[in-house]
Amino acid sequence: MNSISASIIRWYETNGRELPWRNETDPFKIWLSEVILQQTKVEQGMPYFHKFVQRFENIYNLANAEEDEVLLLWQGLGYYSRARNMLACARKIVSDYHGKFPETVEELKKLPGIGSYTAAAISSFAFRKTYPAVDGNFNRIISRVFGINKPKNATEFQTEVFQIAENLIENAPPHIFNQAMMDFGSLVCKPRHALCNQCPIVDFCYAFKNKMVNELPMNPPKKPLKIRNFHYGIFHRKNQILLAKRVEKDIWENLYQLPMIETFEEQNPTFSPLQFANLLNINNISLFKTSDEIIHKLSHQKIIARFYHFEEIDFLQNSVEERQEQYRNWNSYLMTDIEKLKNYAMPQLVKDYLSDCGLMD
Ligand code: ADE
Repeated sequence: MNSISASIIRWYETNGRELPWRNETDPFKIWLSEVILQQTKVEQGMPYFHKFVQRFENIYNLANAEEDEVLLLWQGLGYYSRARNMLACARKIVSDYHGKFPETVEELKKLPGIGSYTAAAISSFAFRKTYPAVDGNFNRIISRVFGINKPKNATEFQTEVFQIAENLIENAPPHIFNQAMMDFGSLVCKPRHALCNQCPIVDFCYAFKNKMVNELPMNPPKKPLKIRNFHYGIFHRKNQILLAKRVEKDIWENLYQLPMIETFEEQNPTFSPLQFANLLNINNISLFKTSDEIIHKLSHQKIIARFYHFEEIDFLQNSVEERQEQYRNWNSYLMTDIEKLKNYAMPQLVKDYLSDCGLMD
């Protein structure tokens, strides 16, 4: 085995974390953990992992679930396409693979939402196949130790890192090596404040020798955030509130929210809350309160949101149905009891606001 790999594995044997998906060989559970951990850190991911495995014991249980339920369980993690892909993947494994995960990276990568990293993680952890699971930890460790001085999104960077990773994993137990790299990257060779004084391979490290630990890996220039103005309307009658499903191909697809109007003037949105009358085909609406501006940042977008509270309006469930027959855009609207809001997966921004104004716990 390569001596760097051996040192990292030795470090892992005494310092590795005990995590519920370790010592696990069920590809279903490994896959769930990896999909969740692509989205969040170990501590925040743990309750989601437990929630999912408690609700879905195996791939068949998940394949049979409704998308709304999966989105609700995923709520708060963000990047909801991962949850939708997860369901599509489960259904495909049931329909095309007799409910059994394929074992090779090539086959795994044909499944929805499974890229090179996840495929290698499943294949090595569940089936002990020799594939490096190259994630951010690998990129960081390898670029520092071997001095790969290129932006980490460049193809050359990825090719070089992958080749080195393949050499490192050769003759090592793949499941242990991949886990060891993840823990070593999370606990020692960290993005900031790397613990070089505790590092077992510091003598081999290009970045340490050249005082470049904080420069590597090289981050590409940040893309400017896209700014979006979302105006949400709160329409209620008695204990019911009007919700809208986000059906467009956009962030938060298939999640529920309040009726919303987006404006595109970057500086100074010219918006009148009375535009909701048009949107909803209602004649008389009367505004009684507007929230402050709420800023919600996503990885590539900045949402500027405002919430407009309207006086109680006079329509009921049956008139929603009538409207759905009359106006096509009404298909995505529904009235729900306020106590049932928690059953709908919503963007965190909307959920937080509804909680702040006492409409949800
Ligand atoms: N990050 C992604 N996958 C992980 C795993 N299996 N263990 C620890 N951290 C991870």
